[in-house]
Amino acid sequence: MTPGQFPQHIIARKRDGHALTTEEIKGFVRGATDGSWADYQLSALLMAIFIRGMTPAETAALTDAMMRSGVVADLSSIRRAKVDKHSTGGVGDKVSLHLAPMVAVCGPAVPMISGRGLGHTGGTLDKLESIAGFRVTLSMAEYAAQVAKVGVALIGQTAELAPADKKLYALRDVTGTVESIPLICASILCKKMAEGIDALVLDVTFGRGAFMTEKARAVELARTMVDIGRAMGKPVRAVLTSMDEPRGRAVGNALEVAESLACLRGEGPADLMEVTYALGEQMLLMAGAAATAETARAQLAAGVASGAALAKFREIVAAQGGDVRMIDDPSRLPSARLQLPLVHAAGGFVHDVDARAVALACLRLGAGRIRAENPIDPAVGVDRLVKVGERVPAGGVLGVIHASDEAALADARAQLERAIVVGDQPGVPAPRVDQVIA
Ligand code: URA
Repeated sequence: MTPGQFPQHIIARKRDGHALTTEEIKGFVRGATDGSWADYQLSALLMAIFIRGMTPAETAALTDAMMRSGVVADLSSIRRAKVDKHSTGGVGDKVSLHLAPMVAVCGPAVPMISGRGLGHTGGTLDKLESIAGFRVTLSMAEYAAQVAKVGVALIGQTAELAPADKKLYALRDVTGTVESIPLICASILCKKMAEGIDALVLDVTFGRGAFMTEKARAVELARTMVDIGRAMGKPVRAVLTSMDEPRGRAVGNALEVAESLACLRGEGPADLMEVTYALGEQMLLMAGAAATAETARAQLAAGVASGAALAKFREIVAAQGGDVRMIDDPSRLPSARLQLPLVHAAGGFVHDVDARAVALACLRLGAGRIRAENPIDPAVGVDRLVKVGERVPAGGVLGVIHASDEAALADARAQLERAIVVGDQPGVPAPRVDQVIA
């Protein structure tokens, strides 16, 4: 390492607002991958990037270096079109769990590399791990074999695949450096470009529960990712979705698996299914498996109605070592010792449900991490949440809190009572699907 490549030199350059060179960016990514940069140095540069931002050229170089920190999967021997979707993060966003099998039964394969909980948002890997035995770390050979045989693999970054993201993602989670366009863009695209797909659909969220609270910033993030994806040779489309209230009625790992299973049984909440279908339509269109959005939706709905999508999810769980009895009988999923319904004595109309406040209540319950090494509690969270615009009868339930200890339950309850506003007038939910950016 020459003095110009010392971590402190690169950190200081970004701190002072300079654009980093490709060599400097490669040095940072190498340092994250081989451990030659200390966590405090990686975190300091993450914060400098967060504050100073990156040019499009720097963001592209970061994405490329992170993708090359491991192997790039070659799934070209699999003849089916391979398409994936990834979300920029949300509250109660369990779409990946049921969308992947719904799409796979329509023809395309879905090789999916997901993340853990990040900031206040939940992560697909943590949700999957609430199914006893489910292995999210497959070797590259196992991953490719499963995509070929089952049509879907749901895994995380590994020592082989995008290892730099594994390290940086965990540090961002606990250092207040998540809500950054270049960091989100590189984190998502490095995994997606390494997983062997032909096309990608992004769910770019905006609103209180998203990392981009303002729609204009979400559009900027979407455009950045679509452009970088295209420059890297993959067609990418972004669906802009609102995330002001939690998606669906459940937040918390096992509770969200249960809600995804309900979606696969045809019993999913309307808002969650609306976003699921919008994303699924784009996936089938990009994979060439449907000619119009209407036929794509009909194919997806048929897979749910016939039970094929649920059977596919069961097959994925079995292939990755999970206990399929939890799929057949969701009451076997981890359940919390304490369950408290939040009751509204007077009743009225749901005016507001603040997604971020609900997420923070769930974090307090133990559904996410405060420190990188913290274990999460798969059983805790909230379900049966009311939705904006609904009527609540006197003595009606606003949601049920699932907790493992009394102190956390009390704190979460106070937080949720502030998060859910009931009044004389129904609130009007934001349109769930805003626009498609191609
Ligand atoms: N999902 C990711 O994989 N990374 C981010 O930074 C945000 C969402």
